[in-house]
Amino acid sequence: MKRKLRMGMIGGGKDAFIGAIHRLAFNMDGLVEMVCGALSIRPDIAKESGDALFLSPERNYLSYEEMLEKESKLPADQRMDFVTIVTPNFAHFAPAKMALEKGFHVVIEKPITFSLEEALELKEIVDRTGLLLCLTHTYSGYPMVKQARAMIREGALGAIRKVWVEYPQGWLSKLSEREGNAQAAWRTDPGKSGKAGSMGDIGTHAAHLAEYVSGLRITHLCADLNIMVPGRMLDDDGNVLLKFNNGAAGALLASQVAAGEENALKLRVYGEKGGLEWSQMEPNTLLVKWLDAPAQILRAGSNYGAHLSHYATFNCRTPGGHPEGYLEAFANIYRNFALTLSARMEGRSAPQEAADYPGVEDGIRGMAFIETVVASGKSGEKWTPYVI
Ligand SMILES: NC(=O)c1ccc[n+]([C@@H]2O[C@H](COP(=O)([O-])OP(=O)(O)OC[C@H]3O[C@@H](n4cnc5c(N)ncnc54)[C@H](O)[C@@H]3O)[C@@H](O)[C@H]2O)c1
Repeated sequence: MKRKLRMGMIGGGKDAFIGAIHRLAFNMDGLVEMVCGALSIRPDIAKESGDALFLSPERNYLSYEEMLEKESKLPADQRMDFVTIVTPNFAHFAPAKMALEKGFHVVIEKPITFSLEEALELKEIVDRTGLLLCLTHTYSGYPMVKQARAMIREGALGAIRKVWVEYPQGWLSKLSEREGNAQAAWRTDPGKSGKAGSMGDIGTHAAHLAEYVSGLRITHLCADLNIMVPGRMLDDDGNVLLKFNNGAAGALLASQVAAGEENALKLRVYGEKGGLEWSQMEPNTLLVKWLDAPAQILRAGSNYGAHLSHYATFNCRTPGGHPEGYLEAFANIYRNFALTLSARMEGRSAPQEAADYPGVEDGIRGMAFIETVVASGKSGEKWTPYVI
């Protein structure tokens, strides 16, 4: 590719959280430049945010409709190639649909849409247009997550029997949505977040990680969803028992009222021969536990190639001991998407490792998880009263 890919952002202004992380991530490899934006629902903040990022005034748009309309009419050597959508869940589908129908590839935040129906419709549009869609399930971008997935794929653990994933956070331990916290406000509002609260916000990450690493599919679940903070409208805590398509059993815990916890996502997967353990807050380490041999500690690092799968080393940037983290994992998703898109635009094939980023099918799995977990949480069938 003789130039950077041109990108526009919807959401992610000065009033937002994740948009700034996206900008750090796509800038890391120099493959993408941001040429336009509709950065906030509030026109004054959109303008101020675009000015601060040195967007040219005529491409610092005040609404995503204006941006997609005007960009689609620019000459091919100027208009953006793809759009990144970093708005709250209720404002994902409409801009994604419009972007695809105007001929733009899409990077979109999770959960992919507000409802399962919207996700299925989005897949139809992706299929019809033949355009690319990348879903930013960040945690699948870590090298040692890719190492875990590769080892399970190669059969190192034998048949998988048990998958445990836990995702405790503490930041919603108070009724922050009533105290001016904008991120809490829409996440706890059923009209903006969707059917689920914590299960949609972080449970979907946990479910994606469990399926991505194990290579299995959840087929049944039994959910206990809770609202722990009085006055809240959506679940802020939940425990889910899982059944997988090979008969493996599992458990998924997601809570945003685990007071004092930061972002303690942790996955454990066990097969016939051993198990794997990975923690998001210690992401460069993968613990491997063997039934008949001493445990191993595998570490990320571009110089440890002999010990790691090519999927892991492809996503390592620094030598061992020079920590990589959240931003690099995010950047890996962008880089893999960008490599795939530029290869497509030049009519050549990208490295197979670059195709390894989440897409619309993962988005549908996430929305199905939300639907099922909420239905199960409401069902009266699941609990057996204690017999005494
Ligand atoms: N991948 C991850 O790890 C991760 C982490 C955090 C958030 N997210 C997801 O990112 C999305 C945004 O979350 P956030 O915490 O940054 O939200 P936020 O409330 O901090 O920011 C949302 C932004 O979208 C803008 N916006 C809303 N409607 C818009 C519209 N119609 N047009 C243009 N801009 C509009 C707001 O003005 C704001 O700038 C959510 O879907 C969330 O689930 C993902």
